[in-house]
Amino acid sequence: SPDNLDECLNLDDIEALATKKISRKAWGYYYSAADDLHSKSLNNTVYSSILMRPRVFVDCTRCDTSTTLLGHKVNVPFYVSPAAMARLGHPDGEAGIAKACGTYGAMQIISNNASQTVEQVVEGKEGQMFGWQLYVQMDRKKSEDMLARIKKLPQIKFICLTLDAPVPGKREHDERTKSGGGVGANLPVRSAVQQGSASTTKPHPEEKSARLEERLEGDDSAGGVGKALFAGTAPDLTWKTTLPWLRKHTDLPIVLKGLQTHEDAYIASLHAPQVKGIILSNHGGRALDTAPPSIHTLLEIRKYCPEVLSRLEVYVDGGIRRGTDVVKALCLGAKGVGLGRSPLFGNGAGGVAGVERVLEILKAETETAMRLLGVEHISQLGPQHVNARAVERD
Ligand code: FNR
Repeated sequence: SPDNLDECLNLDDIEALATKKISRKAWGYYYSAADDLHSKSLNNTVYSSILMRPRVFVDCTRCDTSTTLLGHKVNVPFYVSPAAMARLGHPDGEAGIAKACGTYGAMQIISNNASQTVEQVVEGKEGQMFGWQLYVQMDRKKSEDMLARIKKLPQIKFICLTLDAPVPGKREHDERTKSGGGVGANLPVRSAVQQGSASTTKPHPEEKSARLEERLEGDDSAGGVGKALFAGTAPDLTWKTTLPWLRKHTDLPIVLKGLQTHEDAYIASLHAPQVKGIILSNHGGRALDTAPPSIHTLLEIRKYCPEVLSRLEVYVDGGIRRGTDVVKALCLGAKGVGLGRSPLFGNGAGGVAGVERVLEILKAETETAMRLLGVEHISQLGPQHVNARAVERD
């Protein structure tokens, strides 16, 4: 297995390198998924059942991977999904991921539970596109204070409200792994909200949530990083009550994350244009095990309510490992494709340079896939370029 970033030729190599470098605690948290990891492994394998339909005699001298996401230009159609606790893997953390995204013109969604403050992550990154992901807190005032902080950051272009994990899934790798030592092993686990100090624009990085630290530092019975992070998250969100509440506290476009059925995608589309996008996701298999891979939900939408795709921007994430995966999702109607674990493992494998390697590999693979498929621009990709019959189900 690879010993350095140069030897990493694909995203699996990056994960293997990171696994050697990061603490057991970080690995357990990043790698873990719910129960028996069925959804996670389906995410990772489903794209291989979708076949390409490459066209020949097409001039592929040029290849342009740029596109627009929610009206903002980006250089690549994949983006960094919100994922907590990047500094568990490497001190560069979420700000390092942002730096790498700057190099590649990629969008990043910053997690509610990032290990650095949102102000630290976006500082000096005026030209970049960010979203901020919200886990509504039981104490609504905490979320309202965060939304007020977000208002002051012009780099943040939308609010991503995550809905698929009102309670954490049962993640046994996370529960089992002991602190163990290594990079990030002693990093206090706390969310941006729990970093408190919502009234200041720049909370001091050393501020801590003593309660969470107590539960995690050297405490093997803590139940894992995930459970600790979820303490305080509201389980009582509804279509009826939460969207009006959120609209009251932000003017930014809203993107709903974690939709897993065509029924919910359709309901979301009735909330357009207030809701501008949806992210089909099973949370990297970390919430309800045996929930469908997002590409299944996308195919359901195509079949039962294709109008959703014109009313909203539809995004997918989960199991994106190759440029061909990216291209297939776009062919089936996704506007953009999210990467959850890969940037975290990239960061663990080498900080900013590791995340840059992830983006570099995926961009090159996406270009190769587009060229071999016979398209020059993202906008030319369509369902005619794939055969997804093996994956289509009711
Ligand atoms: C996540 N994910 C996630 N999602 C979210 O909305 N808020 C969050 O804080 C987190 N945190 C988080 C931590 C870790 C370690 C992982 C692996 C994932 C889910 C994430 O945004 C995304 O949906 C999946 O990770 C995508 O699947 P892949 O790319 O990891 O297969």
